[in-house]
Amino acid sequence: MQIQQNISLKPFNTFGIDVSANYFVSVSTIEELKYILSLKAYPNKLILGGGSNILLTKNFEGLVIHINLKGIEIVSEDSDFVFVKANAGENWHEFVLWCINNDFGGVENLSLIPGNVGTTPIQNIGAYGVEIKDTFESCDAISIEKHAIKTFKKQDCHFDYRNSIFKNEAKGKYIVTSVTFKLTKQNHKLHINYGTIASELDAMHIKNPTIQDISKAVISIRESKLPNPKIIGNSGSFFKNPVVPIMHYNKLLQNFEDMPSYPVSNTEVKIPAGWLIEKAGFKGKRFGNYGVHKNQALVLVNYGNAKGLDILNLSILIQETIKRLFDIYIEAEVNIL
Ligand code: EPU
Repeated sequence: MQIQQNISLKPFNTFGIDVSANYFVSVSTIEELKYILSLKAYPNKLILGGGSNILLTKNFEGLVIHINLKGIEIVSEDSDFVFVKANAGENWHEFVLWCINNDFGGVENLSLIPGNVGTTPIQNIGAYGVEIKDTFESCDAISIEKHAIKTFKKQDCHFDYRNSIFKNEAKGKYIVTSVTFKLTKQNHKLHINYGTIASELDAMHIKNPTIQDISKAVISIRESKLPNPKIIGNSGSFFKNPVVPIMHYNKLLQNFEDMPSYPVSNTEVKIPAGWLIEKAGFKGKRFGNYGVHKNQALVLVNYGNAKGLDILNLSILIQETIKRLFDIYIEAEVNIL
């Protein structure tokens, strides 16, 4: 482990923004992490996992700690379930493939989501009708102040749509070091009714899908809609889908009769932000080297050498336009730094 100086963060954020950090260190063990946290010389610290949910708008004056804790192990199992612990620095999709290759079910709908295992509980990642909370058993996290490891059980995490305790009360206080998942070994519970999964399986001529088939279908849908961050910089959905009062939605329907919605409660509905952004005319719009993705309006993209501030300003313009047109505030899902 070595603390490096003046390092470009471009390879460490999926938006591919080229800003630098004064100091940078990659930690591969808990002991290294504890040691780094104890150093008084670097009061300003930024924790980076897979860098898939961050927009960097300026150079970072301080120490970037890159979490590179690796390893996947089976903690316990019976005939129905297996408990698998994955360290925070494992790439999420590679972990999903490991589960699928072992025929462990529960995370197949979450195939191809960028980022690392350690970030998954923070924003309760979700796709195609499944969220991380559905298989999450617990996670270990180290306190940034006291350097002690604490275990968070599922009920401690207050999971909600793209939200958890780590974005609220525990924000900036802990670093997730590992996550333990409860996965099925047989009688897998398949989720195929969401979005276009069923039609994708039909197109693949699959009548009785396995978790392997579902993973393939999800990968194919994601590849057709979402840009590959290795080719076009992006951070997945830039905004959350807004939840609005049904009364407000009904009022909007008078002018926008094709506005889609999903039920949330007796009084609220969720509206796809992608639809609002498309309706506002931003879908596929390119402003030089950044813009809005052509196949999914919820995704902002860096075509190469874009500045984080340009993307931030575009996101504000989109928010203001949506507010003006629909009187709805769309909150950024991505962390802005
Ligand atoms: N839509 C449009 N235009 C667009 C995009 C979407 O009209 O350009 C409308 C359509 O009506 C479509 C609906 O929005 O049917 C839903 O679109 P999609 O299935 O692509 O899902 P989403 O709500 O836009 C969410 C997640 C994605 C996740 C997909 C699939 C959020 C913020 N995003 O997107 O997650 O992959 O569902 O489950 O909830 C991510 O978080 O980074 C992410 C990619």
